[in-house]
Amino acid sequence: MSADLFYITTPIYYVNAPPHSGHAYTTIVADAVARYHRLAGRRVYFLTGTDEHGDKIAQAAVRAGETPQAYADRISAAFRETWQRMGHTFDQFIRTTEARHKRVVSAILQRIYDAGEIYFGEYGGYYCVGCERFYTEKEMVDGKCPDHQTPLQYVKEENYFFRMSKYQDWLIRHIHDHPDFIRPERYRNEALGFLREPLEDLCISRPRARLTWGIPLPFDDRYVTYVWFDALINYVSALDYPDGELFRTFWPVAQHLIGKDILKPHGVYWPTMLQAAGIPTYQHLNVHGYWLVDEAKMSKSRGRTLSPLDLADKYGPEALRYFLLREMVFGLDANFGEVGLVNRLNADLANDLGNLLQRTLTMVKRYCDGRIPAAGEPVTPGDRRLVQVAEGLPGKVAEAMEVFAFHRALEAIWGLLNAGNKYLDEQKPWELAKRDHDALQRVLGHGCEALRVTGLFLFPFLPAAGEKIWAQLGMAGRLAEARLAEAGRWGAGASRRMSQGEPLFPRVEFSLEETTPMVTAKPGGTDVAAEVTIEEFRRLDLRVAEIREARAVPGAKKLVELKVSIGSEERTVVAGILLEYPPADLVGKQIVIVANLKPTQLMGVESRGMLLAATDSAGRIILVTPEKPTAPGAQVK
Ligand code: MSP
Repeated sequence: MSADLFYITTPIYYVNAPPHSGHAYTTIVADAVARYHRLAGRRVYFLTGTDEHGDKIAQAAVRAGETPQAYADRISAAFRETWQRMGHTFDQFIRTTEARHKRVVSAILQRIYDAGEIYFGEYGGYYCVGCERFYTEKEMVDGKCPDHQTPLQYVKEENYFFRMSKYQDWLIRHIHDHPDFIRPERYRNEALGFLREPLEDLCISRPRARLTWGIPLPFDDRYVTYVWFDALINYVSALDYPDGELFRTFWPVAQHLIGKDILKPHGVYWPTMLQAAGIPTYQHLNVHGYWLVDEAKMSKSRGRTLSPLDLADKYGPEALRYFLLREMVFGLDANFGEVGLVNRLNADLANDLGNLLQRTLTMVKRYCDGRIPAAGEPVTPGDRRLVQVAEGLPGKVAEAMEVFAFHRALEAIWGLLNAGNKYLDEQKPWELAKRDHDALQRVLGHGCEALRVTGLFLFPFLPAAGEKIWAQLGMAGRLAEARLAEAGRWGAGASRRMSQGEPLFPRVEFSLEETTPMVTAKPGGTDVAAEVTIEEFRRLDLRVAEIREARAVPGAKKLVELKVSIGSEERTVVAGILLEYPPADLVGKQIVIVANLKPTQLMGVESRGMLLAATDSAGRIILVTPEKPTAPGAQVK
């Protein structure tokens, strides 16, 4: 791999439902990796996007009462906007409905067809619409899809097939010759496990009579392309295969990032497709495990969606990002829980990181008149220990990042943070202030330097917090433009004016009753909650409220701050409806609120009351409004 180039892709997400925290994880990982390699001085290309063809999308569009294109446009925009609001630094957002992608899919199909590697034949098999693939009898469990647990349909029809079986031996050899082609190792073994069974040819078409929402086969327009054969090609169509400069530059260093659910298409279909098309295969397939809620995979189709980024709104996007990257051992499953997130936020961010920042800067202000002293040469064994930890950090982080071991990279950064806190505890600058000014300068200089290097290395993981640390230490320029080679040198940050700010991560007081419900969508309403008495119901004061003003809450993903009138008074209500309701559309609407709900703070705004809304099967929010306009403040019973 060329050392100065880096190409990372996420899966392109299906547009059958809005983004959820599972998708958010993969995209956050890709963003952290992209930022790290830019910081390390590499030229980076980061690709994400949406997968928009196939049965699954066509059916979701019918359910939503929209054309597939209008439906795909809307959900794809929700993905793009969510990633933009999260500050992700992707270079391109590809959609499989773009003309230039369709052209490349046709060209590659034609090339493989011309090479005689695609033939026409009949096939019967068990099909899962959720997975968009056929299952063998061996793979299915009690007649159901092992992933979705939905009954499989037996489908028999004439179709086109890709001679995938022919490439089985080549692929086995390739995986053996390139031990880190698929990593971590457990997924390499899993892929080799698939390949122990004879590999079947891959059905790559769907008759138009059954499905029209796809890319027509260039050699037979009675058929459209199987959605996986279409989607995987995004990784090269986005680079303008075959002649684009991007393709020439970045394809030789391609690394894909996926969840373990899509190992087979990426680990088996894709390399064999590339081989048949005469395109060298990718460098690495990096595979992560599942985020689980109550031990089950978090995913839309099972109704276990953690509504997109609710926790980011509640605790801040960086706390969520930190939790996801720190908590999951890349490759293994991990449990998603609000309690875990708050614990990490309080212990690691508010406590360890907040402490070092606050105490160091407070002392620089008090004892050095706000000017950060030069660290100078280490003098005491304590100085030397601290410098040693800092100098060991780049190697440790590089090694961890090479294998996507984010928890290890963060542990190494926390090694320096903790060493910094310990150093100050031992050197006691507050005592030196009374008797030894030179020693005080040296110790605070060392403390600030440890903090600066920590901020620099934190940047890929916590971009906003990193930038703030940098600015508070008076460093010129933005971390987004910094490079490790210069900025990572011990001593590169001395003699600047500091500017202390607010604590980066205030401690969160937390009670279990306040946790956000994990399951938001219960389509069908069969799962009714436990009975309440009429007296219990009457304790709720429900009122018609009229929206007077609406604005997005700065920094939040979905929150809108509403000024509503309930007749006798105006008050502020904060609601997570931004994805569905742009603020401008809300003014003048009448809604229903719970007027006597205990006030709560959301992203620093006090909300007095909660609006009522339904959630549809796709997780979208629909406001409850009076059937005809009435006086604000009218009681709802
Ligand atoms: N469209 C295909 C991918 C085509 S790539 C050429 C697809 N889309 S998807 O919307 O279903 O996204 C699947 C990906 O979302 C997973 O591979 C993973 O990256 C992410 N995740 C979805 N649920 C997840 C968890 N519960 N946990 C971790 N990641 C999850 O498959």
